[in-house]
Amino acid sequence: MCGIVGYIGDRNVYDILIKGLHRLEYRGYDSAGVALETPEGKLNVYKAKGKVSNLEAFCKDKDLSASAGIAHTRWATHGEPSDHNAHPHYSQDGRLALVHNGTIENYKVLKDALMQHGCVFSTETDTEVLVQLIEYIKLRNGCTIIEAVREALNQVQGAYAIALLEKDHPEQIIAARKSSPLVIGIGDDEFFLASDATPFVEYTKEAVYVKDNEIAVLRQGEPLKLLSLEGDEEHAVDVTELQLSISQLEKGGYPHFMLKEIFEQPDTLRDCLRGRIVDGGRRIVLTGVLDNARKFLDAKRIVIVACGTSWHAGLLGKYLIQGMCKIPVEVEYASEFRYNNPVIGEGDIVIAISQSGETADTLAAIQIAREKGAFVYGISNVVGSSIPRETHSGTYIHVGPEIGVASTKAFTGQVLVLTMLALCVANLRGTITEEESNELGEWILKLPDIVKEVLGLNDSIKHLSAIYTYARNFLYLGRGYNYPTALEGALKLKEISYIHAEGYPAAEMKHGPIALIDAEMPSVIVAPVDHLYEKIVSNVQQVKARGGSIIAIVSKGDKVISKIADHVLEVPAVPECLTPIVTSIPMQLLSYYIAINKGKDVDMPRNLAKSVTVE
Ligand code: G6P
Repeated sequence: MCGIVGYIGDRNVYDILIKGLHRLEYRGYDSAGVALETPEGKLNVYKAKGKVSNLEAFCKDKDLSASAGIAHTRWATHGEPSDHNAHPHYSQDGRLALVHNGTIENYKVLKDALMQHGCVFSTETDTEVLVQLIEYIKLRNGCTIIEAVREALNQVQGAYAIALLEKDHPEQIIAARKSSPLVIGIGDDEFFLASDATPFVEYTKEAVYVKDNEIAVLRQGEPLKLLSLEGDEEHAVDVTELQLSISQLEKGGYPHFMLKEIFEQPDTLRDCLRGRIVDGGRRIVLTGVLDNARKFLDAKRIVIVACGTSWHAGLLGKYLIQGMCKIPVEVEYASEFRYNNPVIGEGDIVIAISQSGETADTLAAIQIAREKGAFVYGISNVVGSSIPRETHSGTYIHVGPEIGVASTKAFTGQVLVLTMLALCVANLRGTITEEESNELGEWILKLPDIVKEVLGLNDSIKHLSAIYTYARNFLYLGRGYNYPTALEGALKLKEISYIHAEGYPAAEMKHGPIALIDAEMPSVIVAPVDHLYEKIVSNVQQVKARGGSIIAIVSKGDKVISKIADHVLEVPAVPECLTPIVTSIPMQLLSYYIAINKGKDVDMPRNLAKSVTVE
């Protein structure tokens, strides 16, 4: 969480920083700020509570001249969202300005020690402690700024990506990282830095992903320098060619990124499939699996770790892999797994799922799994992010940048990759017949068109949403493959409309949630044709008998539930294991329109952030 941007070069520094902050706003929007250094070495810092647009308004009449600058958009951890707690933070003598993404865990101890040495703090943030510490070390040791940064970072515990400007030194920006993302863009006699590459994709395609424990020195007119945190050693600069395009970062005529991303799904699913299901569905080419076939053949069990929406995809992964490959699968919240003394070791496969590839808990779970000897497989979206780099192997979902905070196309991409992975492993292990595999492969290839058809429900869902805009609670029910889908449907509604929604296995409803059902409590019931259809019909009747209204998502031509439910959304019938990709689309649209009717900011819901790089 929190986004940082920096630029040094001849372009308009302020414009680049502000545009970059807008691109990174998905990472947090509690406050924003910039530090601008003029060519004469004067350092101006401006900050404002709230979104980046508030900062822009604040800066209207300010001196914005600069040849170097750093900026920040915040997701508050230490200290409430306010002008004063906004980054950049100054050192006491006003000579240093710092932006930070991450958490300094031992900030309290460091702060107490600095206060004993006469440091005065003006904010409650952990970041101010770091900038004061750098200043203190520099003055005490009379050393260079790089030496002071190095020594300070060696005293710090926690996670950080930082960028620092020093008064009277407009020629350089210093940056560093540990466990929080940081990427540098190399232009023509100019450098960019950011939490991800989106702020500079239109200026350069040459990117360098800074590694943990590296300090980067960005000086105009000199090559990029990467120094080790431990000593004087200089690291090689490994330049990557970015695959991002600017059009992927724009709304393309849609009012919100979320709606654009929902409607992109026929294309994103096609991109995700490309080259992976070949020969008309008869061959599954998932190189991450095929290159490690032995691991999957010998696997005793699979443990899936993830957070949020990715955890819901993981739950579907369990149904898919257990069903097709006959390997026992457990699914854990990464945040629980990491602290629960997981019994894991050689012969186990851990699959880590993460859209951003940066979620702190998932990264920590990966480290534990690796240390214990498991083979770790990553499923991520952001190319070059930390999780794909920390895992032994993996698969990108290739759905393009997801900017709306509520995950939509990444979820269907994750489920699709898990489906292909299950099918690929089942083929290797011989737990599926050739005929079954071919048939499923053919169906998978049809999914993009099927999803396109489902999107045709848009207008009816928009209309339906008006009826339920003011519901205060919702229940989402499903069974089998559509239990995780129900959880995901409920999460989408909560995230963006702030309506309380609970997802439940439909049969479990009678052990508690049924007590809540009355005319004020609508239920969304996900009930496509599958082997549990008859069972869920009874659950639908149980809700109806208690006066609850029902929105049912059913397969086309449904005869039974359609007659009981108040509203019916029909989706094409597909094989059971593919239903989640199809049934999740109407729920994405329903939550989108309910939130819009309520006037909520769907792309930037309150308190949330897209990339959660803190515990
Ligand atoms: C945040 C986002 C969710 C996401 C979760 C896990 O809570 O708002 O959309 O599912 O983090 O993120 P990851 O990037 O690991 O999938």
